[in-house]
Amino acid sequence: MTMEKTVNIMVVDDEEIVRESLTSWLEEDGYHVECAEGGKKALERLPERNWDLMLVDLKMPGMDGIQLMDEVHKTSPDMLVIIMTAFATVDTAVKAMKKGAYDYFVKPFNPDDISLTIRKIVDHRKLVQENQFLRKELKKQYKLRDMISKNEKMLEIFDLARTVARSNSTVLIQGESGTGKELLARAIHDESPRTNAPFISVSCASLTESLLESELFGHEKGAFTGAAALKRGKLELAQDGTLFLDEIGDISLKLQMDLLRVLEQREFRRVGGSDLIAIGSRILAATNRDLKKAIAEGRFRPDLYYRLNVISIQIPPLRERREDIPLLVEHFIEKFNIEMGKEIRGVSEGAMRIMVDNEWPGNARELRNVVERAMVVAKGNLITEADVSLSSSGPGANPGAKSLEEIEKEHIRLVLNENHWNIVRSAHTLGIDRVTLYNKIKKYGLKREGVAPKE
Ligand SMILES: Nc1ncnc2c1ncn2[C@@H]1O[C@H](COP(=O)(O)OP(=O)(O)OP(=O)(O)O)[C@@H](O)[C@H]1O
Ligand SMILES: [Mg+2]
Repeated sequence: MTMEKTVNIMVVDDEEIVRESLTSWLEEDGYHVECAEGGKKALERLPERNWDLMLVDLKMPGMDGIQLMDEVHKTSPDMLVIIMTAFATVDTAVKAMKKGAYDYFVKPFNPDDISLTIRKIVDHRKLVQENQFLRKELKKQYKLRDMISKNEKMLEIFDLARTVARSNSTVLIQGESGTGKELLARAIHDESPRTNAPFISVSCASLTESLLESELFGHEKGAFTGAAALKRGKLELAQDGTLFLDEIGDISLKLQMDLLRVLEQREFRRVGGSDLIAIGSRILAATNRDLKKAIAEGRFRPDLYYRLNVISIQIPPLRERREDIPLLVEHFIEKFNIEMGKEIRGVSEGAMRIMVDNEWPGNARELRNVVERAMVVAKGNLITEADVSLSSSGPGANPGAKSLEEIEKEHIRLVLNENHWNIVRSAHTLGIDRVTLYNKIKKYGLKREGVAPKE
């Protein structure tokens, strides 16, 4: 890595002969040098450049060297200041060092000493800066917007995402629930030139066929009973931006065909409309279903699959990248410390072992929820084994003894999932009416988002 840049040094002294001799010595060593004849001038020149070092005479009329150093440190606390002093005042120079000077030179100067001292300072500073730079580079690699990982496959995904962000290609993101598909889609949008246009997400599983149709394409006034006004669909609203088709694996065969046609022709009509509207948005899609299997079973159109799958990203489940678990735990602690106003410092060894060993069927989202809960119940500022509760974490969890309510909650969640959150069908399966189901969903705080996949 080459980080050669000019080193800027400011010499502040009221004696012209000192300024001149220092300038010529230092310039010979390859530094850029500028002078000021007093403290006031020096402060004026401070914003002009990125100064690396200041050589400041101790005794000057008006503001003395220490006052100047104090002033400089108010705005540039890291500035290296070297105090220059006559032999008689070395005591004061030592005091200056206690007040934050980096070193002092005693007049008359020995040019070789000065040369050597400054070379050492510059080298040291360069090393510190290189380290900071490297550390930042390293951090950047582990991150893509809000996503973090140090898993090799994930880092390849981050790279790929950065590359495809610049294009307009359709991307299909696959992965289990909670692996970060939506997070990745948002990151692609944010890294793309469309970043200032909207990111619009459609959850394809939560709506009936006709609702989803008008959600996507919009409808004209009077297109069907209840269509009292013109409504623009998400495809139209996402113009210039990104349209994220979430849970694309759940849409009906008819809509699959409509969508295929629209994507191929890059234009569409509102429901009940005749005007063709061009698609300006970029399309990203995601699913936690195995689309290959769905194709084999005749539930998903292969032509739509190939249309969406121009670029394919498969996010590995958390249990296949356990090295990310401590990283994510730290990340979530940081996040919730801010949100909850807490000061949790970390996780005990035992608690971390439990988390690293867990199967995490709900992946990073489940881990986030477990960390959040642990932070709420933690007594001190360390999360211990007792705070980590994995009991309700889905298929992989230890069955233990469950309360009736827990079983009811899990069963409702299961049925809702199997029915893609179709309330009418789920209520029918459960043998209760819709209102009762809504009430139970509310009571248990069930959310589509927080649900682990049931294949
Ligand atoms: N790599 C990651 N770094 C940081 N947080 C993550 C990461 N992956 C997932 N998360 C967390 O998990 C949550 C769930 O992620 P996201 O909603 O993107 O999952 P998903 O794959 O879309 O799940 P689903 O299929 O259930 O919709 C995120 O809000 C985030 O808090
Ligand atoms: Mg999602």
